[in-house]
Amino acid sequence: MRTLIQHGTLVSPTDTFKADLVMEGETIAAVGTDLNALYGGKFDKIVDATGKYVIPGGIDVHTHLDMPFGGTTSADDFESGTIAAAFGGTTSIVDFAIQPMEEGPTGSSLHKGLSTWHEKAAGKAVIDYGFHMITRKVTRETLREMDELTKNEGVTSFKLFTAYPGVFYVDDAAIFRAMRQTGDNGGLICMHAENGPVIDVIIEEAKARGETLPEWHALTRPPRLEGEASHRVLALAEVAKVPVYIVHLSAAEALEEVRRARDRGVRAYAETCPQYLYLDHRNYQEPDFGGSKYVMSPPLRMPGNEEHLWRGLQLDDLQCVSTDHCPFCMKEKRLGEADFSKIPNGAPGVETRLYLTFQGVLSGRITLNRWVQLNSTGPARLFGLFGKKGTLAPGADGDVVVWDPAKKHTIRAATQHTRADYNPYEGREVVGAPSHVFSRGKLVVEGDKFLGRKGEGKFLKRGTTLA
Ligand code: URP
Ligand code: ZN
Ligand code: ZN
Repeated sequence: MRTLIQHGTLVSPTDTFKADLVMEGETIAAVGTDLNALYGGKFDKIVDATGKYVIPGGIDVHTHLDMPFGGTTSADDFESGTIAAAFGGTTSIVDFAIQPMEEGPTGSSLHKGLSTWHEKAAGKAVIDYGFHMITRKVTRETLREMDELTKNEGVTSFKLFTAYPGVFYVDDAAIFRAMRQTGDNGGLICMHAENGPVIDVIIEEAKARGETLPEWHALTRPPRLEGEASHRVLALAEVAKVPVYIVHLSAAEALEEVRRARDRGVRAYAETCPQYLYLDHRNYQEPDFGGSKYVMSPPLRMPGNEEHLWRGLQLDDLQCVSTDHCPFCMKEKRLGEADFSKIPNGAPGVETRLYLTFQGVLSGRITLNRWVQLNSTGPARLFGLFGKKGTLAPGADGDVVVWDPAKKHTIRAATQHTRADYNPYEGREVVGAPSHVFSRGKLVVEGDKFLGRKGEGKFLKRGTTLA
C-alpha cells in the first residue's frame, strides 16, 4: 500500500512547512516537494491536504482501559477505547497495567499483571499500545522484575501512588527503592502525587458532618496536598538521582514544586490533562448528581488555576498533555449517590484531547509547534517511543493525522465513540478536527467513518526515556 498526502502543511515541534508525504507499507517513505511526479503518480491512495496540517499521530500516555476500580470497571475496553482515540487523532496509547495483590508467592508478580493486560489488549486494540506498570508493593522480587520489564518486556515506566491508601498507596521507602532501581535500569518513575492518608482524614471528617455531595470529593482533596506530595516525591527523586514524571498534575501548587525542582537541576517532568485546562470546581455544582461526572483524582481546581497550567505548557515546565481517560457510565457513578467517596474516580477524555488543546493554539496560548510537541513528540521522547512514533521523518511508523484547522465540531455524548454515556464537555463547539487518521500506513479514520480493524493495533515494546 502506497499513500500520498499532498499539498499539506507539515508540522513538527520545530518546523511548519509545505510538503508532500509518502507512506509505503507501514512506514513513512518520503517527505518532500512534488512527490506525485517523483513517484510517477503510482499511488494506491492520494489525500489532498490543501489548507490542512499534517502532524504525527497523537500519543496519549495516560489511559485506563478495562480497569477494575472503585468496585466497578472502566467502561471502555481496548477496542472501544482505541476506536475513540483514533477518532480524536490519537494513534498510540500507553495504558496502565496493574500489579496484582493476590495470595501466594507469585501473587504480586509484575509479570502476572503484565500478562493480564496483554490479554485485555491483544486482538482488540485498533491502534498501537504500550503499558506502564502500576506498582503497589515493592519487594526485592518486585525490584528484580522491574529490571526485567524494563530490559526485556518493553515496559519501561512504573506508576506509584502517594494516594488511595489501601488500594494503590505505597510509602516513601517503597517509592525511594523503586526510584533507585529505575535509576540503575533506565526506566522512568511516574508519580500520582496527592497526600492520600491526610485526604482520608479529611474525608472522614466531612462524612462525620454528614456531607454526601460530589463537590466534597474536591473539597476533601485540597491543592496544597498535591503540592506537598509533589514536593516530597521530587525530593526523593533528587536524592535517588533519577528522572521523575508527575502524572495528571492539576494544581498550581504542584506545578510550582515541579518548577522549583527543575530550577535546582532535578530531572523533573510532568503532564497535565485537558480537564484541568477547560473545567473547574464549578462543574461539581451541577444539579442532579451531575457533579459526579467530574469526580476524578486529583479533582478539578478553582477557576483561575488553569492559567498557571497554560503557562507551564508554554514554558516547558509541563512536557505532555495526556488524558487520564478512565470512563464510567452514570450507573457506576451512582454507586456514590449517598457517599461522595464511593463515586468511581475518572472521566472520558481520550477522544477529545487534540480538539481541546487545539483551541489553545487558536487562542494563542500555545503555538502550533508546541501543540505537536505536547501531544505527540514530547510523550514519544519521554516514554521511549521516539523515532518510530512522534515524528514525520522517513523511516518512522506511518502514524499520521491530517488535521483540518477550519472544521467545526460539537462535542456530544451522542456522537462520541467511547462507551461512556456522558461527555464532560457536552455541547462545547470546537474548531479543528482530524480528517484522516493513519495508523502504521493504514487509513483507520476518514471523517466520521471508521476504517480500521479490531486487533490491528500492536503492542509497543518501549525503549528507555530520552528525558
Ligand atoms: O480519577 C482518576 N484519575 N482515575 C484513574 C486512576 C488514577 O489515579 O489515575
Ligand atoms: Zn493517578
Ligand atoms: Zn490515571
